[in-house]
Amino acid sequence: MKYITIALAKGRLAKQTLSLLEQSGITCEEMKDKDTRKLIFANEDLRLKFFLSKTSDVPTYVEYGAADIGVVGSDTILEERRRLLEVLDLGLGKCRMCVAGPASARELLKNNEIIRVASKYPKIAKDYFYNKKHQTVEIVKLNGSVELAPIVGLSEVIVDIVETGSTLKENGLEVLEEICPLSARVVVNEASMKLQRERITQIIRDLKNAVCDR
Ligand code: PRP
Repeated sequence: MKYITIALAKGRLAKQTLSLLEQSGITCEEMKDKDTRKLIFANEDLRLKFFLSKTSDVPTYVEYGAADIGVVGSDTILEERRRLLEVLDLGLGKCRMCVAGPASARELLKNNEIIRVASKYPKIAKDYFYNKKHQTVEIVKLNGSVELAPIVGLSEVIVDIVETGSTLKENGLEVLEEICPLSARVVVNEASMKLQRERITQIIRDLKNAVCDR
């Protein structure tokens, strides 16, 4: 039997996903070893392989079929715009994509002024400002700690993930506009879904049941 390969996004989400997989009967003991430097793990009985990758690379692995299934946040799916099937909302890692900044930036947004927007998600930011708000802005791509940008004067606002809101609060910033809710999704390679439909839909069904039982 051919292996089915599952790509997981490194970090917080991987841990939660692994426990959900475990709940649905899919275990991978090898992966629990915190000291391991191995990148790919297998469950030989179930003919499954698992690997952890940088979050933003998960959709790429799935589009090219290097992974049949992926688990990744909808922020990454929206930003990467890869060809893949989004099949299940796991309801994990719930948060919101927002425009945030100092309270004083509210006026700039209201008056459609040409402002600078810093974000790790330039495509999401562009789509929101250009296609939804019809507001011309300059988008600056950053790779992390985006809240710094309005504080040090790089941009007027940011487009970023807000979970608890404490990063914004501790830095004197606030949510100015909400773009969309986010959560972890299961994605599947299009060809794999045709060629391995039975096994893949069974995995999705098991995961769905595990989500419902939570
Ligand atoms: C994310 C996000 C915010 C923060 C929001 O950053 O970019 O900075 O979490 O969480 P909160 O609303 O609960 O405070 P992450 O921790 O992924 O690091 P990064 O800033 O390097 O992207």
